[in-house]
Amino acid sequence: MTAGLKLAGVEKVFAPRGRPPTTALSELNLEIESNEFVAVVGPSGCGKTTLLRVLAGLTLPSKGAVTLDGEQITEPRPDLVMMFQSPTLLPWRKVIDNCLLPIEIRRKVTPEDADRARDLLERAGLGGFEDRYPNELSGGMQQRVALCRALIAQPSVLLLDEPFGALDAMTRDQMNLDLHRMWHANELTTVLITHSITEAVLLAQRIVVMSPRPGRVVDVYRVPLPASRDLDVLNSPRFAEACAYVRQYFTKDGSENDPENGTEDG
Ligand SMILES: Nc1ncnc2c1ncn2[C@@H]1O[C@H](COP(=O)(O)OP(=O)(O)OP(=O)(O)O)[C@@H](O)[C@H]1O
Ligand SMILES: [Mg+2]
Repeated sequence: MTAGLKLAGVEKVFAPRGRPPTTALSELNLEIESNEFVAVVGPSGCGKTTLLRVLAGLTLPSKGAVTLDGEQITEPRPDLVMMFQSPTLLPWRKVIDNCLLPIEIRRKVTPEDADRARDLLERAGLGGFEDRYPNELSGGMQQRVALCRALIAQPSVLLLDEPFGALDAMTRDQMNLDLHRMWHANELTTVLITHSITEAVLLAQRIVVMSPRPGRVVDVYRVPLPASRDLDVLNSPRFAEACAYVRQYFTKDGSENDPENGTEDG
């Protein structure tokens, strides 16, 4: 049995009726260890979202196998949660009730669940906002609620598709730190898709570089920084070197392949 997430020979072909097929992923092999933080970068349209959906069990691969701890992923499961670019909160539910929704869908909410939700919100800097409605919060705060909602049922895998792309740079830095802390505190295998090489280097232990479509893994780079990080690391020479290393993949064929110049939609 292999612990962690494993993609072996994964291919995904989309064949909409009456239109030419698109091969989004081809011969994709990747192993992600339990509790590891991996970032995935690649040009727009190379199949990153498709890769994440395959990991989440939302899309079945056309070929190959996807496993978590040796068990095939064939459908969405509560221990694998996905978070998107927009927070998708329910506007008529208070912050705490949005946070508790994944539990409520499956069973009766207990006082312990509510305590855990309050604790998560507190740690995400939302103490005192539990009884507000989403439209009373900023975009960054809403995205924090979405992160707490993703973590409420204590998943083992967190899949993030450009979660902070819509936020301004300062809010994004803060969110990155919060995510880093949450990852550290919660034994969580995390896969983050991002267009930002800086964000990838700041957060990830390893960075997966994908080729243009059909998406394959062209490199897996181990970030030479300690596991525990803060924003000071942004100023270190090692950080700059790591960014330069990853960036080389996107500047060879011209800047249009630079993920940081790509579209920001996930
Ligand atoms: N449901 C679908 N039906 C048909 N084609 C699809 C579908 N989903 C994705 N594709 C195609 O698969 C390819 C990869 O798409 P995907 O969304 O995975 O790219 P991406 O790397 O996430 O891009 P971006 O960085 O712009 O978010 C694209 O050519 C896209 O048009
Ligand atoms: Mg995408």
